Amino acid sequence: MNASATIRERRTIRKFKSTPVAQEQIIALLNKAASLYETDGTPSWRCIYYDSLESRQRLAGSMLAKLKESRFGKFIPNKMTDFYSKQAIEIPAHLAFITESANTRRQSDENYAAVCSIMQNFQLLGWEQGLGMLWYTDPLIMSETFFKEIGLQNGERFAGLLSIGYYEKVPRARKRTPAEQKWTMIGGDDYPHPHTNADILPYSPQSILEMLNEAVYAPNDGMREPWRFVYASGGDAAAKLRSLQGSSSTAFLLIVAKEESDLHKQEEDYAAVCSLIQNFQLLAKANLWHVYRTIPEWTYSREKCTPFGIRPQERIAAVLEFGEDIRRSSSASTPPTVNVTQR
Ligand SMILES: Cc1cc2nc3c(=O)[nH]c(=O)nc-3n(C[C@H](O)[C@H](O)[C@H](O)COP(=O)(O)O)c2cc1C
Repeated sequence: MNASATIRERRTIRKFKSTPVAQEQIIALLNKAASLYETDGTPSWRCIYYDSLESRQRLAGSMLAKLKESRFGKFIPNKMTDFYSKQAIEIPAHLAFITESANTRRQSDENYAAVCSIMQNFQLLGWEQGLGMLWYTDPLIMSETFFKEIGLQNGERFAGLLSIGYYEKVPRARKRTPAEQKWTMIGGDDYPHPHTNADILPYSPQSILEMLNEAVYAPNDGMREPWRFVYASGGDAAAKLRSLQGSSSTAFLLIVAKEESDLHKQEEDYAAVCSLIQNFQLLAKANLWHVYRTIPEWTYSREKCTPFGIRPQERIAAVLEFGEDIRRSSSASTPPTVNVTQR
């Protein structure tokens, strides 16, 4: 994959050609997407595939159930519900992504982060083959009927629906806020000057910022851009991170997610931040960088996060460590197993 170009060029697509999408192509892309996600664990996730007309009709019906069954349902003109239903039916394929909720919040987050990262990989790989997608999580579709349709079990979590088809026209890019405006450097400035040393020292703040400015082309609902970045490479902050992480890395990047009070938005924002992190990892890999991504236990302690400037309505979504001597090798990771059920 040409990570840099594809990340920048991918767009959310809402209008698709009627050309069918081959199931084998979807499965192959999913397998590739899963293999591009590097992890030490074995995240648990699965997806449900809708491509036949009959299954898309059923899915569309279930997506409208909440609206129809609501207090206002009887006032909503049939013309309007028919319009929405037709839109969903006309899209050649849909994939519902589901993850397992684990016993601990951290493990649940790992599973959720994995599926969101794989969804982003899948969008990028599809884009290179002319496939456009819409990541859909509208609360209006969330109902018992919808969850029953996708077969959501107890202890599972719905991550999102990807609607898929060949795109006709590529919409204009929505501008992103430069990473510099969302960047904080902590722990002292004992790193050599960014502009002069970027080529000598790959993990300089300047080169990380350059990469972040591509990674920010991640999908994010409502263009909330719910992320910011805390960089530590020197002083007490880096020493403290080395101790918390049990690592010898010289540079760390904390990817911070905003936490909205609305839980649904909180989930969407976390998903967007996971897509951004995945973009960053793809770019890092293409540049032969050594970057290690973790969601460590300590990030769930407010007390441990505060010294790094993490505010009450924020959380650390991942810690990235940079450096050749980072402990684990990505080749040791097991690609998550792809489990697709056709409906
Ligand atoms: C978790 C998540 C949920 C989203 N939900 C919706 C949605 O419900 N409806 C929609 O139209 N777009 C949705 N989007 C797509 C965003 O609107 C889109 O990514 C954003 O406008 C930026 O456009 P781009 O993806 O073309 O860069 C979602 C994206 C993410 C990551």
